[in-house]
Amino acid sequence: MLQQQTISIELGQGLQIPALGLGTWPLLGEEAADSVARGIGHGYRHLDTTEKYGNEQAVGEGIRRSGVERSELWVTSKLSLAGHSRQGAETSYVEALERMGLEYLDLFLIHWPNPSVGRYVETCEGLEELVASGRLRSWGVSNFKPEQLHEVLDAGLVPAVNQIQVDPLHLQPLVIAANEAAGVHTAAYSPLGRAGDFLLDPALTTPAHKYAKTPAQIVLRWHLDSGRIAVPKSASDVRQRENLDIFDFALEPAERAAIDALDSGAGPRLDSNTYGH
Ligand SMILES: NC(=O)c1ccc[n+]([C@@H]2O[C@H](COP(=O)([O-])OP(=O)(O)OC[C@H]3O[C@@H](n4cnc5c(N)ncnc54)[C@H](OP(=O)(O)O)[C@@H]3O)[C@@H](O)[C@H]2O)c1
Repeated sequence: MLQQQTISIELGQGLQIPALGLGTWPLLGEEAADSVARGIGHGYRHLDTTEKYGNEQAVGEGIRRSGVERSELWVTSKLSLAGHSRQGAETSYVEALERMGLEYLDLFLIHWPNPSVGRYVETCEGLEELVASGRLRSWGVSNFKPEQLHEVLDAGLVPAVNQIQVDPLHLQPLVIAANEAAGVHTAAYSPLGRAGDFLLDPALTTPAHKYAKTPAQIVLRWHLDSGRIAVPKSASDVRQRENLDIFDFALEPAERAAIDALDSGAGPRLDSNTYGH
């Protein structure tokens, strides 16, 4: 029988985020609700969604269908461009709760910095106020570069999380280092690199053989052993369970270093200086 996930990361203020979450893009409607309900049934306790995926309502439905108490789950969503202002943060939060049918979120992120709009610092202030008022448990950012993060830090604001694209070919070490230096936790999106051919690399297949795991499981364990949160998406029962079954082994430092060395140096698929919504 699969064990429930056992690694959590302390976010401060007594908050524990389950290090492994279930991604939900690009699932919609019944497929999203069903995937979330099954995922929770398999043991996931952390769900990742956003307004832009168009599935917040379905994710909320999947949560209710699972029968698991809301207090046992960690739910993350994100705000889009319309929420980029102090007041917009609150309005976006209220709208997200309405769509999801939930009373609170555990984490609400600014999905993209949209630097040309130039309002992410005041949006962070709005999110901080939501946390201070007790309506939201924690806030963070996504796709923020070090210079954007520093602007937020300079305003005296510290996001709990920066969710960025990280996989063995896209390690983004400078962004991770900037997060770490600021006490901001890195969450990896597209953590499996959308199951690219790199999964066949010996840096992954060798430990996979040693620990009797799949290369995808090795990648997920690499994230967690490196102190990162990871939100792999799978709609398949087999792969949802596979991705959860990573808590009975740990990688050696040299094995982690060999995976780090796969980094191509390439930036993320989308450049947050020019892309956003
Ligand atoms: N903040 C942002 O801007 C942002 C951007 C992109 C994504 N995200 C979040 O991150 C989540 C994950 O990212 P992602 O969906 O782009 O990529 P991913 O999780 O790296 O990869 C998902 C793909 O890998 C397959 N897969 C899952 N487990 C597998 C396994 N064990 N072996 C082989 N293939 C496997 C899935 O197919 P099956 O479903 O068929 O298993 C799916 O095609 C998203 O769902 C979303 O919640 C956030």
